[in-house]
Amino acid sequence: MKPLQGKIALVTGASRGIGRACALALAEAGADVAVNCRSNLAAAQEVCLLISKMGQRAQAYQADVSREEEAHNMVEAIRQDLGPVSILVNNAGITRDKTFIKMTKSMWDEVLGVNLNGPFNVTHELVGQMIEVGWGRIVNITSIVGQTGNFGQANYAVTKGGLIAFTMTLAREVARKGITVNAVAPGFIETDMTKDVPPATLEQVKAMTPIGRLGKAEEVAAAVAFLASPQASYITGQVLPVNGGMYM
Ligand SMILES: NC(=O)c1ccc[n+]([C@@H]2O[C@H](COP(=O)([O-])OP(=O)(O)OC[C@H]3O[C@@H](n4cnc5c(N)ncnc54)[C@H](OP(=O)(O)O)[C@@H]3O)[C@@H](O)[C@H]2O)c1
Repeated sequence: MKPLQGKIALVTGASRGIGRACALALAEAGADVAVNCRSNLAAAQEVCLLISKMGQRAQAYQADVSREEEAHNMVEAIRQDLGPVSILVNNAGITRDKTFIKMTKSMWDEVLGVNLNGPFNVTHELVGQMIEVGWGRIVNITSIVGQTGNFGQANYAVTKGGLIAFTMTLAREVARKGITVNAVAPGFIETDMTKDVPPATLEQVKAMTPIGRLGKAEEVAAAVAFLASPQASYITGQVLPVNGGMYM
Protein backbone atom coordinates (compact mmCIF):
# COMPACT_ATOMS: atom_id res chain seq x y z
CA MET A 1 0.00 0.00 0.00
CA LYS A 2 1.30 3.46 -0.91
CA PRO A 3 1.88 5.89 2.02
CA LEU A 4 -0.78 8.42 0.95
CA GLN A 5 -3.41 5.93 -0.29
CA GLY A 6 -6.90 7.20 0.56
CA LYS A 7 -5.75 10.79 1.17
CA ILE A 8 -6.98 13.76 -0.82
CA ALA A 9 -4.53 16.58 -1.56
CA LEU A 10 -4.97 20.11 -2.87
CA VAL A 11 -1.97 21.76 -4.51
CA THR A 12 -2.46 25.42 -5.38
CA GLY A 13 -0.74 26.65 -8.54
CA ALA A 14 -0.24 23.11 -9.80
CA SER A 15 -0.50 23.71 -13.55
CA ARG A 16 3.24 24.43 -13.87
CA GLY A 17 6.59 24.36 -12.14
CA ILE A 18 6.95 23.32 -8.51
CA GLY A 19 3.20 22.90 -7.92
CA ARG A 20 2.90 20.54 -10.89
CA ALA A 21 5.82 18.46 -9.59
CA CYS A 22 4.22 18.38 -6.10
CA ALA A 23 0.88 17.19 -7.52
CA LEU A 24 2.64 14.38 -9.39
CA ALA A 25 4.78 13.39 -6.40
CA LEU A 26 1.76 13.22 -4.08
CA ALA A 27 -0.13 11.13 -6.65
CA GLU A 28 2.90 8.85 -6.98
CA ALA A 29 2.67 8.39 -3.20
CA GLY A 30 -0.98 7.33 -3.58
CA ALA A 31 -2.98 10.54 -3.01
CA ASP A 32 -5.91 11.75 -5.10
CA VAL A 33 -5.17 15.33 -6.13
CA ALA A 34 -7.07 18.57 -6.71
CA VAL A 35 -4.98 20.57 -9.19
CA ASN A 36 -5.51 24.32 -8.86
CA CYS A 37 -4.50 26.97 -11.38
CA ARG A 38 -5.38 30.61 -11.99
CA SER A 39 -5.62 30.76 -15.78
CA ASN A 40 -3.90 27.82 -17.45
CA LEU A 41 -6.72 25.26 -17.23
CA ALA A 42 -5.46 23.16 -20.16
CA ALA A 43 -2.10 22.70 -18.42
CA ALA A 44 -3.86 21.76 -15.15
CA GLN A 45 -5.96 19.20 -17.02
CA GLU A 46 -2.81 17.69 -18.51
CA VAL A 47 -1.46 17.23 -14.99
CA CYS A 48 -4.74 15.49 -14.08
CA LEU A 49 -4.37 13.17 -17.06
CA LEU A 50 -0.89 12.13 -15.91
CA ILE A 51 -2.26 11.49 -12.41
CA SER A 52 -5.14 9.35 -13.72
CA LYS A 53 -2.59 7.29 -15.61
CA MET A 54 -0.96 6.59 -12.22
CA GLY A 55 -4.29 5.19 -11.03
CA GLN A 56 -5.29 8.12 -8.78
CA ARG A 57 -8.25 10.48 -9.06
CA ALA A 58 -7.50 14.06 -10.09
CA GLN A 59 -9.52 17.12 -10.99
CA ALA A 60 -8.54 20.60 -12.14
CA TYR A 61 -9.94 23.71 -10.43
CA GLN A 62 -9.52 27.17 -11.89
CA ALA A 63 -9.58 29.68 -9.03
CA ASP A 64 -7.60 32.77 -8.10
CA VAL A 65 -6.51 32.00 -4.53
CA SER A 66 -6.16 35.70 -3.75
CA ARG A 67 -9.96 36.02 -4.07
CA GLU A 68 -11.73 34.77 -0.96
CA GLU A 69 -14.92 33.76 -2.75
CA GLU A 70 -13.10 31.82 -5.46
CA ALA A 71 -11.05 29.97 -2.83
CA HIS A 72 -14.25 29.17 -0.93
CA ASN A 73 -16.06 27.88 -4.02
CA MET A 74 -13.05 25.77 -5.01
CA VAL A 75 -12.84 24.10 -1.59
CA GLU A 76 -16.59 23.35 -1.65
CA ALA A 77 -16.33 21.88 -5.14
CA ILE A 78 -13.38 19.67 -4.15
CA ARG A 79 -15.26 18.35 -1.14
CA GLN A 80 -18.18 17.37 -3.35
CA ASP A 81 -16.09 15.92 -6.17
CA LEU A 82 -13.28 14.16 -4.31
CA GLY A 83 -14.02 14.35 -0.55
CA PRO A 84 -12.39 16.10 2.43
CA VAL A 85 -8.89 17.40 1.79
CA SER A 86 -6.30 16.37 4.37
CA ILE A 87 -3.13 17.48 2.52
CA LEU A 88 -2.75 21.10 1.47
CA VAL A 89 0.25 22.48 -0.39
CA ASN A 90 0.12 26.28 -0.48
CA ASN A 91 2.30 26.71 -3.55
CA ALA A 92 0.71 29.38 -5.80
CA GLY A 93 3.00 32.39 -5.90
CA ILE A 94 4.01 35.33 -8.07
CA THR A 95 6.76 37.93 -8.29
CA ARG A 96 6.55 41.61 -9.28
CA ASP A 97 10.15 42.73 -8.86
CA LYS A 98 11.45 46.32 -8.54
CA THR A 99 13.71 48.07 -6.10
CA PHE A 100 11.64 49.31 -3.19
CA ILE A 101 11.93 52.96 -4.21
CA LYS A 102 10.39 52.19 -7.62
CA MET A 103 7.89 49.63 -6.36
CA THR A 104 4.28 50.73 -6.74
CA LYS A 105 1.56 50.07 -4.20
CA SER A 106 -0.22 47.85 -6.71
CA MET A 107 2.93 45.67 -7.13
CA TRP A 108 3.07 45.35 -3.34
CA ASP A 109 -0.64 44.54 -3.03
CA GLU A 110 -0.68 42.06 -5.90
CA VAL A 111 2.15 39.96 -4.45
CA LEU A 112 0.74 40.06 -0.92
CA GLY A 113 -2.68 39.16 -2.36
CA VAL A 114 -1.52 35.92 -4.00
CA ASN A 115 1.40 34.84 -1.80
CA LEU A 116 0.00 35.69 1.63
CA ASN A 117 -3.77 36.22 1.38
CA GLY A 118 -3.94 33.16 -0.90
CA PRO A 119 -2.66 30.79 1.82
CA PHE A 120 -4.97 32.53 4.32
CA ASN A 121 -8.02 32.07 2.10
CA VAL A 122 -7.38 28.42 1.29
CA THR A 123 -6.06 27.28 4.68
CA HIS A 124 -8.86 29.01 6.56
CA GLU A 125 -11.38 27.09 4.46
CA LEU A 126 -9.64 23.73 4.86
CA VAL A 127 -8.26 23.53 8.37
CA GLY A 128 -11.77 22.82 9.73
CA GLN A 129 -12.08 19.78 7.43
CA MET A 130 -8.70 18.50 8.66
CA ILE A 131 -9.78 18.91 12.28
CA GLU A 132 -12.96 16.92 11.50
CA VAL A 133 -10.89 14.10 9.99
CA GLY A 134 -8.34 14.34 12.85
CA TRP A 135 -5.38 14.24 10.47
CA GLY A 136 -3.82 16.84 8.26
CA ARG A 137 -0.67 18.00 6.55
CA ILE A 138 -0.11 21.60 5.49
CA VAL A 139 3.04 22.44 3.53
CA ASN A 140 3.70 26.08 2.67
CA ILE A 141 6.09 26.86 -0.17
CA THR A 142 8.16 29.75 1.08
CA SER A 143 11.58 30.73 -0.32
CA ILE A 144 15.21 31.31 0.54
CA VAL A 145 14.27 34.97 -0.10
CA GLY A 146 12.06 34.88 3.01
CA GLN A 147 15.14 33.89 5.02
CA THR A 148 17.73 36.25 3.52
CA GLY A 149 15.88 39.05 1.68
CA ASN A 150 16.76 39.79 -1.95
CA PHE A 151 17.52 42.90 -3.97
CA GLY A 152 14.40 44.07 -5.81
CA GLN A 153 12.01 41.74 -3.98
CA ALA A 154 10.75 43.60 -0.89
CA ASN A 155 7.15 42.58 -1.65
CA TYR A 156 8.03 38.93 -2.35
CA ALA A 157 10.41 38.64 0.64
CA VAL A 158 7.74 39.97 2.99
CA THR A 159 5.30 37.31 1.84
CA LYS A 160 7.80 34.48 2.13
CA GLY A 161 9.02 35.62 5.56
CA GLY A 162 5.38 35.99 6.56
CA LEU A 163 4.63 32.44 5.44
CA ILE A 164 7.39 31.16 7.71
CA ALA A 165 5.86 33.00 10.68
CA PHE A 166 2.41 31.71 9.67
CA THR A 167 3.79 28.14 9.50
CA MET A 168 5.21 28.27 13.02
CA THR A 169 2.09 29.88 14.50
CA LEU A 170 -0.46 27.59 12.87
CA ALA A 171 1.73 24.59 13.74
CA ARG A 172 1.42 25.49 17.42
CA GLU A 173 -2.32 26.03 17.17
CA VAL A 174 -3.27 22.74 15.47
CA ALA A 175 -0.55 20.33 16.66
CA ARG A 176 -2.89 18.53 19.07
CA LYS A 177 -5.54 18.04 16.39
CA GLY A 178 -3.33 15.67 14.38
CA ILE A 179 -2.23 18.32 11.91
CA THR A 180 1.34 19.25 11.07
CA VAL A 181 2.27 22.52 9.40
CA ASN A 182 5.67 22.90 7.74
CA ALA A 183 7.33 25.00 5.09
CA VAL A 184 9.70 24.17 2.26
CA ALA A 185 12.11 26.93 1.28
CA PRO A 186 13.48 26.44 -2.23
CA GLY A 187 16.54 28.26 -3.50
CA PHE A 188 16.72 28.99 -7.25
CA ILE A 189 14.69 26.37 -9.12
CA GLU A 190 14.36 25.96 -12.91
CA THR A 191 10.76 27.04 -13.61
CA ASP A 192 8.93 29.80 -15.50
CA MET A 193 9.50 32.04 -12.46
CA THR A 194 13.27 32.05 -13.00
CA LYS A 195 13.40 31.74 -16.80
CA ASP A 196 13.80 35.49 -17.32
CA VAL A 197 16.62 35.93 -14.80
CA PRO A 198 19.59 37.32 -16.78
CA PRO A 199 22.31 34.73 -17.57
CA ALA A 200 24.94 36.73 -15.65
CA THR A 201 22.78 36.65 -12.51
CA LEU A 202 22.23 32.90 -12.92
CA GLU A 203 26.00 32.41 -13.09
CA GLN A 204 26.34 34.39 -9.84
CA VAL A 205 23.64 32.24 -8.25
CA LYS A 206 25.43 29.05 -9.30
CA ALA A 207 28.71 30.39 -7.94
CA MET A 208 27.03 31.11 -4.59
CA THR A 209 25.45 27.63 -4.46
CA PRO A 210 27.73 24.89 -3.06
CA ILE A 211 26.03 22.25 -5.25
CA GLY A 212 26.84 24.52 -8.23
CA ARG A 213 23.58 24.41 -10.17
CA LEU A 214 19.92 25.45 -10.01
CA GLY A 215 17.45 23.04 -8.44
CA LYS A 216 14.70 21.06 -10.17
CA ALA A 217 11.01 21.22 -9.34
CA GLU A 218 11.08 17.47 -8.60
CA GLU A 219 13.72 18.04 -5.92
CA VAL A 220 11.37 20.44 -4.12
CA ALA A 221 8.42 18.09 -4.61
CA ALA A 222 10.30 15.22 -2.97
CA ALA A 223 10.66 17.31 0.21
CA VAL A 224 6.97 18.22 0.09
CA ALA A 225 5.91 14.60 -0.36
CA PHE A 226 8.04 13.60 2.62
CA LEU A 227 6.53 16.29 4.88
CA ALA A 228 3.04 15.22 3.72
CA SER A 229 3.70 11.59 4.55
CA PRO A 230 2.79 9.70 7.74
CA GLN A 231 6.56 9.22 8.27
CA ALA A 232 6.89 12.96 9.01
CA SER A 233 4.43 12.77 11.92
CA TYR A 234 6.79 14.29 14.54
CA ILE A 235 7.92 17.21 12.39
CA THR A 236 5.96 20.44 12.68
CA GLY A 237 6.61 24.17 12.52
CA GLN A 238 9.82 23.60 10.53
CA VAL A 239 11.31 25.15 7.44
CA LEU A 240 13.04 22.61 5.20
CA PRO A 241 15.48 24.35 2.82
CA VAL A 242 15.90 22.85 -0.67
CA ASN A 243 18.54 25.26 -1.90
CA GLY A 244 21.70 23.37 -2.86
CA GLY A 245 23.37 24.76 0.27
CA MET A 246 23.03 28.38 -0.84
CA TYR A 247 21.85 29.40 2.63
CA MET A 248 22.71 27.36 5.69
N1 LIG B 1 11.19 28.93 -8.96
C1 LIG B 1 11.92 29.28 -7.94
O1 LIG B 1 13.13 29.48 -8.04
C2 LIG B 1 11.30 29.42 -6.57
C3 LIG B 1 12.15 29.59 -5.48
C4 LIG B 1 11.62 29.71 -4.22
C5 LIG B 1 10.26 29.65 -4.04
N2 LIG B 1 9.45 29.47 -5.10
C6 LIG B 1 8.00 29.43 -4.85
O2 LIG B 1 7.46 28.23 -5.35
C7 LIG B 1 6.12 28.44 -5.75
C8 LIG B 1 5.94 27.96 -7.19
O3 LIG B 1 6.85 28.67 -8.01
P1 LIG B 1 7.16 28.25 -9.52
O4 LIG B 1 8.54 28.67 -9.79
O5 LIG B 1 6.73 26.86 -9.76
O6 LIG B 1 6.17 29.28 -10.26
P2 LIG B 1 5.57 29.27 -11.75
O7 LIG B 1 6.29 28.30 -12.61
O8 LIG B 1 5.50 30.70 -12.14
O9 LIG B 1 4.07 28.71 -11.53
C9 LIG B 1 3.17 29.44 -10.74
C10 LIG B 1 1.91 28.62 -10.53
O10 LIG B 1 1.06 29.37 -9.65
C11 LIG B 1 -0.20 29.55 -10.27
N3 LIG B 1 -0.78 30.82 -9.80
C12 LIG B 1 -0.26 32.07 -9.90
N4 LIG B 1 -1.09 32.96 -9.35
C13 LIG B 1 -2.16 32.26 -8.90
C14 LIG B 1 -3.37 32.60 -8.24
N5 LIG B 1 -3.66 33.88 -7.95
N6 LIG B 1 -4.25 31.64 -7.93
C15 LIG B 1 -3.99 30.34 -8.23
N7 LIG B 1 -2.86 29.94 -8.84
C16 LIG B 1 -1.96 30.90 -9.18
C17 LIG B 1 0.05 29.50 -11.76
O11 LIG B 1 -1.16 29.16 -12.44
P3 LIG B 1 -1.39 29.46 -14.03
O12 LIG B 1 -0.54 28.44 -14.76
O13 LIG B 1 -2.83 29.24 -14.26
O14 LIG B 1 -0.92 30.86 -14.27
C18 LIG B 1 1.12 28.39 -11.80
O15 LIG B 1 0.51 27.11 -11.71
C19 LIG B 1 5.84 29.92 -5.54
O16 LIG B 1 5.20 30.12 -4.32
C20 LIG B 1 7.23 30.53 -5.53
O17 LIG B 1 7.26 31.73 -4.81
C21 LIG B 1 9.93 29.36 -6.37
